[in-house]
Amino acid sequence: MQTTQPDSQEEVIDFGNGQPGPSILPTELLETAAAHCFGKRDPNQLNYGDEQGDVSFLEGLAEFLTPRYGFPVHPEELFVTSGNSSAIDMVCAIFTKPGDTVFIEEPTYFLALNIFQVDYALNVVPIPVDDEGMSLEALEAALDDHQPKFVYTIPTYHNPTGTTLSQNRRERLHQLAQENDFLIIADEVYQMIGYDESKKPPLAMAQYTAGNKVISLNSFSKILAPGLRLGWAQMGPELMKRFVTFGKIASGGSANHVGSGIALSAIELGLQDKFLDGIKQIYKHRTDVMESGLRENLPKSITWEKPDGGFFFWLTLPESLSAKALASQAEAFRVSFVHGGQCSNIGGLDKKIRLSFSFYEDEEILEGCRRLGLLLKSHL
Ligand SMILES: Cc1ncc(COP(=O)(O)O)c(C=O)c1O
Repeated sequence: MQTTQPDSQEEVIDFGNGQPGPSILPTELLETAAAHCFGKRDPNQLNYGDEQGDVSFLEGLAEFLTPRYGFPVHPEELFVTSGNSSAIDMVCAIFTKPGDTVFIEEPTYFLALNIFQVDYALNVVPIPVDDEGMSLEALEAALDDHQPKFVYTIPTYHNPTGTTLSQNRRERLHQLAQENDFLIIADEVYQMIGYDESKKPPLAMAQYTAGNKVISLNSFSKILAPGLRLGWAQMGPELMKRFVTFGKIASGGSANHVGSGIALSAIELGLQDKFLDGIKQIYKHRTDVMESGLRENLPKSITWEKPDGGFFFWLTLPESLSAKALASQAEAFRVSFVHGGQCSNIGGLDKKIRLSFSFYEDEEILEGCRRLGLLLKSHL
């Protein structure tokens, strides 16, 4: 293995990239699904589509989700979205006005922060995450001072920490939402991306939708292809009324009618199930590769937990290092990553680094770890 710094002609290996890599993206599957969808010769597929989503798609999706989620999912609880980013935007538009308070996790999905703070000018209060997920002690303390419109959480295989909210905390969080009248926006994109069959996560927060306090968001981005711009929100009937009458939906119809027709074909043909099982194996393998690349190349003072699901390793640096400073020097080593500060709205987490393994093949993951090791060793 090389021990030298890569030259500046080498492409940067960007562990900040949380997309699926090109070898994973299912062009052939989508060709088959699209041919099946349009082969039905149903002109309605090319119209606006029902506001909530096409009934046959919602039924097909519910049938797909029920065994994956491990509890009955009802089609009338499902609403078609253009993916979770767009659904988060819709939630802010429907339920907030500038200056309203929302709670997020510290750390959180860094791009959701932009929606809350920049696009909607919300007052964002961070609640720390520990190894059982969001700290409810901290949340209860924050409730003494604030009345949030909603709590945004990534309960399973959290982005960026990889942690999963325990069942006790899920229950208590739902109870607190009812007692204190706030919504829980559960971003459940990684719920079905677990790697250890013997260690299943607790049931999705979608288990609590009947109480009209939980909106569970999920997306085809992580289970099929991000470019489809297709997802779903699961909620109780009172909340559903707000979504189907939302101006953009009342005017434009289903958030992605054609995309949902193609995804329905993928489900009906059994391709979606097969594909999801296949990519879970690939991602699981990539966690092994990244784990061994990091073990081999990183100084012993850097620590992490191997994730059981999701797309991320969350590294902890020793006191002497700054993740932000390292990020600014990383390009010279032809590697890149998300530094902890990007996942914090209060300038915290400078001892943390997020690495994603979703985009790259084995050799690139190993080479990226080697480069990261060189960068870190240049400081330790
Ligand atoms: C927690 C989380 N939410 C949302 C998204 C984006 O979702 P979508 O592609 O459905 O907009 C991502 C993608 O990385 C994510 O990690």
